[in-house]
Parts: sequence; C-alpha cells; structure tokens
Amino acid sequence: MHTILTGDRPTGPLHLGHYVGSLRNRVALQSRHRQFVMIADLQALTDTEPAKVRSNVLEVAYDYLAVGLDPDQSTLFIQSQIPELAELTMHFLNLVSLARLERNPTVKEEIRQRGLERDVPAGFLAYPVSQAADIAAFKATLVPVGADQQPMIEQTNEIVRRFNALTGSATLVECAALIPEQGRLPGLDGSAKMGKSLGNALALSASPDEIRAAVKRMYTDRNHLRVQDPGRVEGNVVFTYLDAFDTDTQKVAELKDHYRRGGVADTAVKRRLEDVLQATLAPVRARRAQYALDHEGVRRMLQEGCARARVVASQTLRDVRQALGLEYFADTPGKVA
Ligand code: TRP
Repeated sequence: MHTILTGDRPTGPLHLGHYVGSLRNRVALQSRHRQFVMIADLQALTDTEPAKVRSNVLEVAYDYLAVGLDPDQSTLFIQSQIPELAELTMHFLNLVSLARLERNPTVKEEIRQRGLERDVPAGFLAYPVSQAADIAAFKATLVPVGADQQPMIEQTNEIVRRFNALTGSATLVECAALIPEQGRLPGLDGSAKMGKSLGNALALSASPDEIRAAVKRMYTDRNHLRVQDPGRVEGNVVFTYLDAFDTDTQKVAELKDHYRRGGVADTAVKRRLEDVLQATLAPVRARRAQYALDHEGVRRMLQEGCARARVVASQTLRDVRQALGLEYFADTPGKVA
C-alpha cells in the first residue's frame, strides 16, 4: 500500500487535462491506498490574486467530488490550513540553490508563459520547494500527476536525500511520480498543453453547448480537405481525444484505419467524439450540481479532511524538528513547541 499525496492549484475550474493527467488515476487508486488530495491555495497565491484563489477553492472541491473522489476513501484538504507545510518549506529552502531553482524546466516554462521574466516573485521561483514539503510532510511514496510535474518529483527527491544526509537520519522518504501512459492531453487548439489561462481548455463543468462548440473548433488534419482523401491520425487532436476518452478501442481502431484510407468526413469523427464527451461529462456535471447545492456539507467535509491531514503532517514535523535539533524544551512542562 502506498501513501499518495497530490493536488491542484485553485486558479479556476478543473478541466479535461486534469482529468486525463491525474484525476482519473486518483479515483482508481483511492480504494487501495492511503490518499491525500490537496487544494494548493498557497501555491496558487504565488501568482494569482487572493480573491480569485479564495473563490476557486470550493469549485475545485466540487470537481473532485464530481469525478468520484470519495471523502471516505481520500482525505481532501486545503494547503493553507496545515501550517506545518509552511514550516517544512522554510527548512527545505536551505537545501536548494538559487541556480537549481532557476533550472527547473516547468517553472522556466511558466515564467515564460506568464511573462514574468523581469519580475519573478521569489515565492513563485521557490514553489517547487513548497511542493516538495507537501509531499514529504505526508511521507508520500506515490504522486499521481501530469507529465509536466515530473521535474517537481525529481527536485523533491533531491531535497529529501539532502535532508536525510544532512541530519544523518532516515526521517523523510522518497517518492515516485505516477504519470499516465496516455501522455498529456493537448489543448483544444492542438497546442501541447491544456490550460485555462491558455484559452484552450474544456472545463469538467462545461455545458452541453460548450462541449459541442469545443469539438467543433478542434483541429483535425489540415490536409484532409475532401472526404475521400486519406487523412492523418497522428497529431490529429480529435483522434487524440478519442484515444483518451472512447472506451470502445476496437471501434476507434477501425475508424482510424478508415480515416487513413480515406472516405471518412471530419464531421463524422467529430460527431463520435462529441457523443463520447457528452456521455463522459453529463454525470460529472449532474453530480457537481448536487454538491454545489450542499456547499455547507462540502465545507464541513474539507474541514474534517484538514484535521486528518494535520495530524499526519504534524507528526512528520516533530520528526523533522528532532532531526534538526530544534526540540529545546521537549521534555519541559509548558514547552514552547
Ligand atoms: N503543482 C501542482 C499543479 O500545478 C499542484 C501541487 C501542489 C501538487 N502541491 C503538490 C501536486 C504536491 C502534487 C503534489 O497543479
């Protein structure tokens, strides 16, 4: 059995990229492992206004519940409510160089996308350290994330090894990333990554009309002009999505063969994809609406999750403080910490 820790930034509603990249895996894993799923509000605050972060925390919780994360099997919690994570980040910041932070390819890419080159908040550059603390505080051994998060896992393990070496202890444990075989879901426009800020995302909460419009504007093979022309399947976004969502793989394989030979209209492939997406998202949307009606219940569920998560993180922080020699008054009545 693994201990799993994973999470998402509450900067907007979760989308199909999250679903394929990690949500699906988390739902499959929750019955067999000890899973913690974190709404990373502190991480979101490294580059997003507080009001926006605040208003998206519950939205992400609805998304989690709607896709089938079960609070009886997974502990859902909010990062900021676990102050031990901030303390562990502080200790970890001493174990990583500025040059190493600047080399992290995911952060580099995000800095470029956001146009932050001239003015990177220190907290943004250091968020992989805070993410390492999230993972280490739960002694997680498995982290289900999208492919773009692989460098974070490597950086986490470097820090964990350094901490253990520095303190001559085995306090912290290394983790492995669990990245879906399927690979990253491209954006609706065919670009490498789906992102709300990139304007190419389809939210899990999308309406039937939004789903229809999204499929309609998807790219296919730009050289497939007439129905009878042979078409390309590789790099064709509509087929990539069919691979990700259509459970009838036999039928998809036949459709691909036919499309390659020629004789299949793009509209026919799109119709199939639209049906599949409508069928996938309809129950998610319905469940989400139910949970949104019970926002008090969801808030209470999160509060209980935070309490459970805090017990685990504070135990690790006791070990960490001891390893660093910071327990000055541990055996004194009325101790400070
Ligand atoms: N970086 C992740 C994202 O962009 C969110 C996250 C924060 C996370 N802490 C984590 C993911 C720990 C996995 C483990 O969505």
